[in-house]
Amino acid sequence: MSIRKVVFPVAGLGTRLLPASKVIAKEMLPIVDKPLIQFAAEEAIEAGADTLIFVINRNKRQIADHFDAVFELETKLAAQGKELLLAAARDLLPPHVSCVFVTQKEALGLGHAVLCARPVVGNEPFGVILPDDFIYSPERGALAQMAQQYALSGASQIAVEDVPREKTANYGIVTSDAPEQIVSRISAIVEKPKPELAPSTLGVVGRYILDARIFSLLEELPPGAGGEIQLTDGIAALLKLQTVQAFRFAGTRYDCGTKLGYVQAIARVALDDPLIGEQVRAALKQLV
Ligand code: G1P
Repeated sequence: MSIRKVVFPVAGLGTRLLPASKVIAKEMLPIVDKPLIQFAAEEAIEAGADTLIFVINRNKRQIADHFDAVFELETKLAAQGKELLLAAARDLLPPHVSCVFVTQKEALGLGHAVLCARPVVGNEPFGVILPDDFIYSPERGALAQMAQQYALSGASQIAVEDVPREKTANYGIVTSDAPEQIVSRISAIVEKPKPELAPSTLGVVGRYILDARIFSLLEELPPGAGGEIQLTDGIAALLKLQTVQAFRFAGTRYDCGTKLGYVQAIARVALDDPLIGEQVRAALKQLV
């Protein structure tokens, strides 16, 4: 059992990074020299995906452009014999991988965005990646780790990590039978509870592997937290039909929808860059 399709819900506004995200899609913001969406696509492919489904709107067409060919640039780099640069511009996805773009006409919530991908996903299990939750896992991508657990268990997988109690209102929060374990069975999930009402501090991170039955459940949902159709509420309904597991991935997650998380992600990647890492380390030391 493997997953072939991964959905990227990228039609959100990205208001927390204004004015940077006014014209540039937040998923196009670079971590050093690679946009967030490229990292997300590579993570999906490492997990076994050959079909990348981007749920976009009219302001996010740059994401399609990013994966498209740029004839003029490629011809010029080829003529100049600049092979490395040519590869950086051209070979963004392996040949067996296709991109499909689906429109979310109204911003009705994450659950609604995922539901928009239904005609492409059909009746098979699929992954979901929220690209602004950047997960740095030097050994194995977070979604690949989850795909392995899915193959073992056949249970839907939700990525989780501990979050500070004062931040529970930013996350889906799960209750599980063994919250300290790498894998545990979820018994309840609630979207963005206030700290005093949160049943735990085990927060959902933007990686999911879901059974296709979630689509019919999402279709029936009334608006939830924030007046939106929430993916979390769809998962709460799915729990009643099948086992859903909370998965503590190996890696560090940076919330690139916030200034601090974005800067930390850039520092992390820059420090590990084989070409500039040492210089970055020296420069950062000098700065602080
Ligand atoms: C979404 C989900 C939430 C999850 C979070 C992870 O919220 O609705 O359950 O914890 O992503 O980043 P958003 O950050 O889009 O408000």
